[in-house]
Amino acid sequence: MSVTKASRIVREFRIGNFGIPTLGFGSFSPYFAPLIVSYMDFKLTEEQVAVQLAARDFARTELLPGVIERDEKMKFPTEQIKKLGELGFMGMMVDPKYGGSGMDTVSYVLAMEEISKIDASVSVCMSVNNSLVCWGLEKYGNEEQKQKYLTELASGRKIGAFLLSEPEAGSDATSQRTTAEDKGDHYLVNGTKNWITNGNSASYYLVITQTYPEKGHKGINALIIEKDSPGVTVGAKENKLGIRGSDTHSIMFQDVKVPKENRIGDDGFGFTFAMKVLAGGRIGIASQALGIASGAYELALKYSKERKAFGTEISNHQAIAFKLADMATEIEAARLLCLKAAWTKDQGMDYTLSASMAKLFASDIAQRVTNEAVQIHGGYGYVKEFHVERLLRDAKITQIYEGTSEVQRIVISRTILKG
Ligand code: CAA
Repeated sequence: MSVTKASRIVREFRIGNFGIPTLGFGSFSPYFAPLIVSYMDFKLTEEQVAVQLAARDFARTELLPGVIERDEKMKFPTEQIKKLGELGFMGMMVDPKYGGSGMDTVSYVLAMEEISKIDASVSVCMSVNNSLVCWGLEKYGNEEQKQKYLTELASGRKIGAFLLSEPEAGSDATSQRTTAEDKGDHYLVNGTKNWITNGNSASYYLVITQTYPEKGHKGINALIIEKDSPGVTVGAKENKLGIRGSDTHSIMFQDVKVPKENRIGDDGFGFTFAMKVLAGGRIGIASQALGIASGAYELALKYSKERKAFGTEISNHQAIAFKLADMATEIEAARLLCLKAAWTKDQGMDYTLSASMAKLFASDIAQRVTNEAVQIHGGYGYVKEFHVERLLRDAKITQIYEGTSEVQRIVISRTILKG
């Protein structure tokens, strides 16, 4: 087919018969529609490139020194998070009038990748604060809640946490046992939350609670609870396989009085709130997985050009070169999925499906790529100084939190089967 004919068909298809808005929102499924539009332009704006460079510079100068020690000693990166907040990375997508940086989700993905290349314990704190806490409050909180809590969180002066998981409610998120009894002007909260990122370092918690057990997920409420409220107890820090610098705790609530004005949205909105917020969170964790993979790949690439075996650099051996080729290809595919999900969100379109796809794929390739990075390093890959063993350990959690890979497959399969 001639180029002229092809371009005429494309023009008629896009403008004449359907029009771009129809392609975006019409009879096509939300997954297929944005493919046509989004894959036309891969160029980042100057601002997005500047954000990427700033995050890269911060990660190399502020995070790299000390990352091994923080991992070993399970030390929360207090100073580093403070500086990250001062640079505007803790409330990246929040309107500047609430203390945020007013950036788009694409910039957030770029920054998350750079930070995660070096320190995934820092990036999980950043991801939870940005996409679960700040985004949730900005989107669904009322003006008073934004003034009181969001401004502190988005500016990085305070850290937030998202409390959904429970001892018996992980993937099965509708089975909430933490209760918020309606006492007129306040709720009385009782229960235990597990695996809470930023559990001890956070000042404010967004807590998913059950008010009307007989209504199932329609009886769930999301409440803002201040950590220093009487009746709140922080459990011991979890001793984890990876992201060991991050601050993971159980949180117990015993007769905690929470004013009614701290409820987010209407009575019973809590489960929808959690699902909406988690869809955005999955873009953050997908980008974290991407960053862990690309960090490991960059180290393996460099090492393969320095290390000699059988009289030449190991990158000259096809066994190593082919591994690097697979790693680079998988990372590029994951990056496209992450940016596609971010772009979809920035366009105001439904991004639930693309976020789940990005997380599912990126977390799987993070496993494979970090494993191969250790293999390329040989014995050196097995010791801490070379960083890749940490990245391998850090990668695993991305297949678990903010929805396991199995949960992502539930979301994806339900959506594609619905048609
Ligand atoms: N947006 C809006 N509403 C949604 C939704 C979404 N994305 N997904 C589901 N819902 C609604 C459904 O429409 C349904 O409402 P109706 O009954 O009114 O139709 C309701 O929610 C219940 O949905 P399902 O019937 O689909 O619920 P389910 O029990 O089958 O479970 C699930 C669905 C996808 C498995 C969900 O439970 C889930 O996402 N589980 C994983 C939870 C998770 O990600 N946990 C991570 C913890 S947070 C964390 O890790 C943070 C950290 O610190 C790092």
